[in-house]
Amino acid sequence: MSDTSNSPPLDPIARLEALDAAALQGGGARRIKKQHDAGKLTARERIDLLFDPGTFVETDRLVQHRCTNFGMDDKKIPGDGVVTGYGKVDGRQVFVFAQDFTVFGGSLSAAFASKITKVMDLALKTGAPVIGLNDSGGARIQEGVESLAGYADIFLRNVLASGVVPQISAIMGPCAGGAVYSPAMTDFNLMVDGSSYMFITGPEVIKTVTHEEVTKEELGGATAHETKSGVSHFTCADDAECIATVRELLSFLPSNNHEPPPYKEPMDPSSREDEALDEMVPRDPMKGYDIKSVIESVVDDGDFFEVQERYAKNMVIGFARFDGHPVGIVANQPLELAGCLDIDASVKAARFVQFCDCFNLPIVTFVDVPGFLPGVGQEHGGIIKHGAKLLYAFCEATVPKVTVITRKAYGGAYDVMSSKHIRGDISFAFPTAEIAVMGPDGAVNIVYRKEIAEADDPVATKAEFVEQYRERFANPFKAAELGFIDEVIHPRTTRPRVCAALEMLRDKRDTNPPKKHGNPPL
Ligand code: HXC
Repeated sequence: MSDTSNSPPLDPIARLEALDAAALQGGGARRIKKQHDAGKLTARERIDLLFDPGTFVETDRLVQHRCTNFGMDDKKIPGDGVVTGYGKVDGRQVFVFAQDFTVFGGSLSAAFASKITKVMDLALKTGAPVIGLNDSGGARIQEGVESLAGYADIFLRNVLASGVVPQISAIMGPCAGGAVYSPAMTDFNLMVDGSSYMFITGPEVIKTVTHEEVTKEELGGATAHETKSGVSHFTCADDAECIATVRELLSFLPSNNHEPPPYKEPMDPSSREDEALDEMVPRDPMKGYDIKSVIESVVDDGDFFEVQERYAKNMVIGFARFDGHPVGIVANQPLELAGCLDIDASVKAARFVQFCDCFNLPIVTFVDVPGFLPGVGQEHGGIIKHGAKLLYAFCEATVPKVTVITRKAYGGAYDVMSSKHIRGDISFAFPTAEIAVMGPDGAVNIVYRKEIAEADDPVATKAEFVEQYRERFANPFKAAELGFIDEVIHPRTTRPRVCAALEMLRDKRDTNPPKKHGNPPL
């Protein structure tokens, strides 16, 4: 590593140029080549992709570490392993810190941490998102507790900024130990397939402590965190795709909690109907269908930006636009576990609902849910408290909430899925909707157990009771009679109806009672 501090050029301009050049070359050509050979871009290349051309302004390019241990005073690089600053994404201000693995493995020193907290503070004061591009060997070993203090300074700001400005973490290399807790507290995590990993303790420590053998990739690679832990929200094929995904994600989000989400001129008329929707939900309640087809048929231009696509697939979440205005979509997926609510699905949707509520994104909920998933594993795993998270999040949310019940809305899950009773603003139901305490089969088995058992032809008798039950309860008309459903709609008219409801709700104001904060079932 070059020493730029001890022999400055005499001329101040030349001195500045030398320092700039040293900062720009980071860890030097050999380490940059190593970075490229590993399929990764450098911090500066990533920043170039993130911002609109020519808009990036760097902060703290000349900051150096202050460590004197282990001969570190001879090893200084201006910038000290993290590139920080601000620029424009689609014309809107965004702050960034990009860890530079070519400098001390992107490890975090006290000076490095203060560069990050400086941009976080500016982001909070000016109301702009913070993007962290993570690629780091963790705490700078030579700095000891000063590095740990630096992490804590960042964690604190992650929490203070939570719900004020969007925070997005792209994991583009190693992210291990306590360092994972900064991304964990941000709103979205993206990982690059094959070159990123996150874990609290690595394979070697695990082997020593629990005698489990696991590779780095199996333990904390993108697939593990997207499909198993739910820590990651997006898996990207490479760095360029990762940055493009960050940009797309930002296009749905306001810059802060005081702004509306960004409007995008729609190409799709709000009056557009889709006849195909009339047949999309099968009449047979045992048959599955893809709820994403329903979503894509009603949102602007069929453009649905799904979040956590491969985790808890029985719950679909993501962003879309109606009439140019971004919304969050929450939907049961009948193709997976028949759309049942289980622990993972509840937690996935609860956090998403909470995010939308923080950032003024209306929530459009599509309901086809036979209930909570039964099972000892679910009960002992805490479905009671985890299911309650989703109920809590929907109850607490004050953004516009529009609900479309396409088919089943049974039991407690009916209440939970943004029903009118928990401050859903407008509820629509398809004529195929079944809103009841439970499905016809289960209901008659309980209510008419004796009659069925004593009948000459139990099968025919049960079928008769099922039909009677379906006629009386398993439809949307009783709920509509009671005003729990605002309108039973022809499915083809879903888009015009949802657009009109959202337009009516655009200036909605609602609040929760004053309190320090609630006590959700964490
Ligand atoms: C100082 C570090 C470093 C670190 C890497 N380097 N990690 N320097 N502190 N934590 C340096 C290396 O010395 C090397 O310098 C360069 O970065 C690249 O590292 P390599 O090992 O050559 O790269 P690679 O083979 O790709 O391996 C990457 C790695 C490995 C897996 C991240 O470097 C590693 O295991 N590092 C240590 C990780 C670690 O234990 N960190 C502390 C975790 S605890 P040269 O000069 O040769 O290029 C922690 C606590 C946080 O972070 C707590 C928060 C509350």
